[in-house]
Amino acid sequence: MSVFKQKVEYSFDRGSVNYDSYSKLQKDVLKELLHFFSQEFKDNKIEKSLLELGSGTGESFKMISKKLSLKKIHLIDISKKMIDKSRIKILDKRVGFYHKDFDTLQNFGDFDLIFSNMSIHWSNDLSKLLKRILNTIKKNSHLIVSFPNSKSFNDIEESQKKYINHFPEIGDLIKIFDNDKFFFKLKEKVHKQSFRNFFHFLKNLKLTGANVSNNKISNSRGIFEIRDYKKTINTSFNISYLFLKKIRD
Ligand SMILES: C[S@@+](CC[C@H](N)C(=O)[O-])C[C@H]1O[C@@H](n2cnc3c(N)ncnc32)[C@H](O)[C@@H]1O
Repeated sequence: MSVFKQKVEYSFDRGSVNYDSYSKLQKDVLKELLHFFSQEFKDNKIEKSLLELGSGTGESFKMISKKLSLKKIHLIDISKKMIDKSRIKILDKRVGFYHKDFDTLQNFGDFDLIFSNMSIHWSNDLSKLLKRILNTIKKNSHLIVSFPNSKSFNDIEESQKKYINHFPEIGDLIKIFDNDKFFFKLKEKVHKQSFRNFFHFLKNLKLTGANVSNNKISNSRGIFEIRDYKKTINTSFNISYLFLKKIRD
């Protein structure tokens, strides 16, 4: 496993303790994603097999299961402690819990619905992961995901950006979708959050485990530099919402 992946696993293991109390953004995004999805998703009476990528403590599964009729359910997360927590919260014989890196999955043909809320941007290579999903899902299967995109944090100082994860460019991803094979809808919503200062912003990310950066931090004074930023942070998370259905093989 790469050093970055080890950091992600370690960070979300630690975040699993407080995740449910501090994940307001993820919960707001989940509500929006489910609303978006209900407007598009017409055949919710048919039983579906579900794969969730980066299932965390199981909050999103609990909400989806109220909306859909489900048969086989696979919840996958790179953090063993997140998976352990979801195992305690979800007592449902249809659900399988897997401590696994979604970047290692090759075939998505067994599932009618692939769902992911605020997780797939942690992929090593999101374009490659999406291509594998789109190439292997069956006709009539759905992909429903949310993730922060590269327009996020445009209100944060340039020198602060190195402490924060770099998010995917939506323009790069759209190129993958073939209009002949897929029906898709994409929307963006900006979610705003305010923090007393930069240190509190990073602390909040840390409480959910989301404080890993894939940027190289060089020439930095670390914690001293972070504490030097005194100003209030009003930050924006630009979230992409994708609804996709394979209409042709
Ligand atoms: C911000 S949390 C979202 C959890 C959940 N979907 C929710 O809405 O509350 C991101 C989750 O993705 C998981 N994750 C990150 N990289 C992953 C990977 N490569 N494979 C599987 N899970 C991963 C993390 O461990 C974490 O539980």
